[in-house]
Amino acid sequence: MDAGCGPGAYAEWLADRGAEVVAFAVSEKMVRLARERLGTKASVLQADFDLPLDFLEDESFEFVLSALAMDYVSDWDRVFGECRRVLRQGGRLVFSVEHPCSTFVHRVYRGAGNYFETQIVNTEFTGFGEPVTMPAYRRSLGAMINTLIKASFVLERILEPAPTERFREADPEEYEKLSRMPGLLCLRAVKR
Ligand SMILES: C[S@@+](CC[C@H](N)C(=O)[O-])C[C@H]1O[C@@H](n2cnc3c(N)ncnc32)[C@H](O)[C@@H]1O
Repeated sequence: MDAGCGPGAYAEWLADRGAEVVAFAVSEKMVRLARERLGTKASVLQADFDLPLDFLEDESFEFVLSALAMDYVSDWDRVFGECRRVLRQGGRLVFSVEHPCSTFVHRVYRGAGNYFETQIVNTEFTGFGEPVTMPAYRRSLGAMINTLIKASFVLERILEPAPTERFREADPEEYEKLSRMPGLLCLRAVKR
């Protein structure tokens, strides 16, 4: 399962390696782009991760991926509950979010809030022509990990990815920043 699939790059990666993929996103446009990319390689649906995933059967997946989508979802108790329900025993959940250290520096340290509270924050994206403002939820590290543990997942790995050489060639200034402070947090957990 690719939850919050965007234009379907990860769904495609998984399908090309033999996975039978169900991908979904809340945005109609992303669903259209993912369908264009994936054709018959994967099943792409429009669905909201903030609601029950009634269209998916219990214990029907070995792997749930969610890349940079859960920041936009309010109820992580429900999300992890649904991930647990659809995963088989031993199945894995891998997800990435904005790193709480980065959101702390950009939001709280500069005076816009309280680290310990989950807060709605607006980010302006400027890389798509007209600027787009996207609301997201900023959470503490404890709020993230304890919600995962409460849903009876076993945390296997935490990754704070550093930028690659290719990144440095493309954007040396951002490379310098992200080499000193993490931008993203990736977690891998297993259903026992
Ligand atoms: C930043 S994009 C990431 C896309 C893709 N995972 C990737 O890494 O290329 C965020 C995606 O999350 C989806 N999304 C945001 N809120 C969602 C929700 N409540 N339920 C399902 N998808 C959601 C958006 O539609 C979009 O496809």
